[in-house]
Amino acid sequence: MKKTLYCKLTGGREDDEIFQKAAAVIQAGGLVAFPTETVYGLGADAFNARAAKEIYAAKGRPSDNPLIVHICRQEDLQKAASEVCEKAKLLTEAFWPGPLTVILPKNAAIPASTTGGLHTVAVRMPQHPAALSLIAASKTLIAAPSANTSGRPSTTNAMHVKEDLDGKIDMILDGGAVQIGLESTIVDLTEEIPVILRPGFITKEMLEAVVGPVRTDPALVKENEAPKAPGMKYRHYAPKAPLYLVSGTAEAVTEKINALCRQAKAEGKKTAVIADDGSCGRYAADVVVSAGSREDGRSIASGLYDILRGFDRDGADVIYSECFEDNELGQAIMNRLLKAAGHRVLQA
Ligand code: TXA
Ligand code: MG
Repeated sequence: MKKTLYCKLTGGREDDEIFQKAAAVIQAGGLVAFPTETVYGLGADAFNARAAKEIYAAKGRPSDNPLIVHICRQEDLQKAASEVCEKAKLLTEAFWPGPLTVILPKNAAIPASTTGGLHTVAVRMPQHPAALSLIAASKTLIAAPSANTSGRPSTTNAMHVKEDLDGKIDMILDGGAVQIGLESTIVDLTEEIPVILRPGFITKEMLEAVVGPVRTDPALVKENEAPKAPGMKYRHYAPKAPLYLVSGTAEAVTEKINALCRQAKAEGKKTAVIADDGSCGRYAADVVVSAGSREDGRSIASGLYDILRGFDRDGADVIYSECFEDNELGQAIMNRLLKAAGHRVLQA
């Protein structure tokens, strides 16, 4: 067990001392959790192969899953990537700092343990003053996955980080709750036509407005269909209890979820439901939470991981959720919910 130093940021000049301390930890090969606008990150020196291995150990993450390299100024992109194509310039100028990660050929200076052995590298400039200050003070680039135990929902406040990583990392910078709540959009720029590998706050339409046609990774499109054989392989962003998504018209969904809850209760299970502001009064479950307003993707995204983590604290045995595809962030929200549900979708 490590002693994890916990520091609350105020947003004022008094934070400078904390950033200096955190930078010293990074330079010494240690691990610092920090806020970004998307989710909390678990940072280490991107050029230190041993530090990257420590990240994998703290998260319990397979070491072939590559990390994102975080930078604080546009010109540092060259330190991570060996080649910056025209589309990368256009996209990063349009959306950085912000929730966009680009995949480019890797610079030889970035160790293989940071990129999971790949010849490409993921790079992002976050839009959070604390993240930018930490990177600048560290005078290096910071490799950071989301600051959660592998497989669990990402962390959107410092309490979540403590739940997962206390005693396993050197320092936690508490910058309060994040703004967006879902991880960055990842776009692969190593092909002629950019490919979205992970949907996020920056949508396909926003990318296309800057660089023309963009494709979506076919694996993502397939995931959005209700699978015939609900797979259990891909559980990610997941609460401990099994989660089922229920799809169909509003009335049919309410009826189906209530029937499922009655059945589960008869088996002695504690039931939980994720609904929206308009529908949450219609459910007879032990725990009913509203994800927000169904038309407002931002409201749903910002609280989703806290809701999923809440079920672990409540000790729910089974969770049923409505679907939330009809909003500007529908693709990103449904991608995370489907993974959390291990692709179990019930048709109402
Ligand atoms: O918003 C975010 O992106 C947050 C904050 C902390 O910046 N970070 C984050 O990191 O979500 P992580 O490690 O949880 O997710 C990174 C994703 C993984 O799915 C990984 O497989 C993918 O990025 N990735 C990283 N490098 C890649 C590469 N070279 N090629 C393809 N995928 C890559
Ligand atoms: Mg992650």
